[in-house]
Amino acid sequence: MRKSGIEIVEEKQCVLTLPPEGFRLEKGGVLNRLEVAYECFGTLSPQKDNVVFVCHALTGDAHVYGYHTEDDVSRPATGWWEGMIGPGCGIDTDHYFVVCANVLGGCRGTTGPASLNPDTDKPYGSAFPEITVGDIVDVHVLLLKELGFEQICAAIGGSFGGMQVLEWAVRYPEMCANSIVVAAAASLNAQALAFDIVGRQAIVQDPDWANGDYYGARRPDAGLARARKLAHITYLSQDSMENKFGRNKQQDWVERGEAFHDFSRRNFRTFFQIESYLEHQGEKFINRFDANSYLHITRAMDDYDLAEAYGCLEAAAERVKGRVLLVSLSGDWLFTTDQAEELVEALLRKGRAVSYCHLDAPAGHDAFLTHIDELKQVIRAFMPAHRYTFKSDSISAEYRVIAGMVPQGARVLDLGCGNGELLALLKELRGTDGHGIDIDIGEIVQAVHIGQNVLMCDIDRGLPLIPDNTYDSAVLSETLQVVREPLRAVEEILRVAKEAVVAFPNFGYWGVRLHLLLKGTMPKGRHIPYEWYNTPNIHLFTLNDFRKMCANCGIEILETHYVTGGFLSRLALKLGFKNPASRQVIARIARRR
Ligand code: COA
Repeated sequence: MRKSGIEIVEEKQCVLTLPPEGFRLEKGGVLNRLEVAYECFGTLSPQKDNVVFVCHALTGDAHVYGYHTEDDVSRPATGWWEGMIGPGCGIDTDHYFVVCANVLGGCRGTTGPASLNPDTDKPYGSAFPEITVGDIVDVHVLLLKELGFEQICAAIGGSFGGMQVLEWAVRYPEMCANSIVVAAAASLNAQALAFDIVGRQAIVQDPDWANGDYYGARRPDAGLARARKLAHITYLSQDSMENKFGRNKQQDWVERGEAFHDFSRRNFRTFFQIESYLEHQGEKFINRFDANSYLHITRAMDDYDLAEAYGCLEAAAERVKGRVLLVSLSGDWLFTTDQAEELVEALLRKGRAVSYCHLDAPAGHDAFLTHIDELKQVIRAFMPAHRYTFKSDSISAEYRVIAGMVPQGARVLDLGCGNGELLALLKELRGTDGHGIDIDIGEIVQAVHIGQNVLMCDIDRGLPLIPDNTYDSAVLSETLQVVREPLRAVEEILRVAKEAVVAFPNFGYWGVRLHLLLKGTMPKGRHIPYEWYNTPNIHLFTLNDFRKMCANCGIEILETHYVTGGFLSRLALKLGFKNPASRQVIARIARRR
């Protein structure tokens, strides 16, 4: 229900229909009753083909967006992903119907350790069985089926939510058309495990934990708060902590003076703001979370290992059928870029439709919740409802020549793909499939918007994401002159593709030479529209230079197209003066055998 543009979202509860033998968990346990707390909102299409399932992070819940009651609307909305989800947002609820549910093992309405065990009529406590990420996803699939949804348009989640999305993509490939994985990985690395391990130790070593059977007695709040404080450190980057707090002192603590900072009581507390902040985060957390849930869910997260479960990451990637968008964050040291890129590489090895963005996010891991402007744009562009149709009539003659040099039905890599028009043209004219590469987030958003798979990658760093011989053809259109090491770029493209089409401006063109000769300044015109001081072209080379590089470096030129200017150039070309005649050169090259 929407009230004056504001969504009032109802908290719902669903008791799942289970088989007589109950719900069997992967680690052998059984649950005879399963309740799931969920919220849903947005616009459901008559075909029910626009459902987006949101997977929440470690300690989140089903309340991802909106207000629960009309009385709330005077206060800021309390959903944990406000701005990402809602009308006009990344997941646009004017086009999509969103479902978000609390995870199995949680404490926000879905069956977990604090729920009543139907066999004893007491909270499960220590009797709650071990759960896995697979179980969590299975329960959510049961919920969606119970609600009448056999398919979903997309699953999306960040952090632990992203791990669930990965599991969706490999476990239910037929059910999930688009998977959006943000700031996540196929498994936790040793450093991340270490924080979880010490956090759990803090809980189980709290005497109030009582082996998990503390319900109705004192809760292990001290242990849980300590675990949260520790985990919270991993959600922020060093920069973000420095900017927020530095070595600043907490003024009210300072005012309370030595009595507070009581060395004789050996509490060793400091006056630093960061201590106060972590205290606050710990305190807030114990008021909304259950220690046993924390133990079970973090344990499920720690045990999650996609490569181990399927033998290797490629085997897991092979199961994926839909499109995948992976996003990593620059300041995230909990789920690192390397881990995201490992996933991208596995998906590429299996030829899957993957797009990848590495976003500038100095705030760290939590940036997927707090700094979402770019993330929102990428996700919105990725969602099929916002796709705009590519029109091939406005495409340049050069692009058509390139298309003619790309084999029919080839797998293509377009380096420096810009807004993705060339990829779209190749698809239309040559039935190709493949990826674009670019470094500019604005261009990537546009390319994703017209339905292309794009990898954010700096060509100057090589193409480490891409395995050898992944593509039939690579295209380097108007890019060779802007990369730092052109030879390295050519070698890289001939590593990942059997052949390549390279288009470049020819600085041996007579017009360019004449300009330099007569005016004594670097040439500028329709085809070289830059001043020397703001040009992206850092290598000015000619057709002859290119030929020399190929000859010296074991590269064969298989086919060349010369783009000429007016009458004089055409005449010069006819007379065999290719270098001065060509404004631009388009060459098909391969490694010499
Ligand atoms: N002493 C005590 N409290 C302080 C403080 C200080 N020196 N400085 C700030 N705070 C408090 C603020 O009053 C505010 O309190 P409130 O949340 O009760 O209103 C809170 O700290 C602000 O925290 P901050 O981290 O600066 O906010 P943010 O906008 O950058 O991030 C959240 C918001 C919700 C993302 C973040 O607080 C959080 O909870 N992160 C963890 C989310 C999570 O679980 N991520 C893991 C995914 S696996």
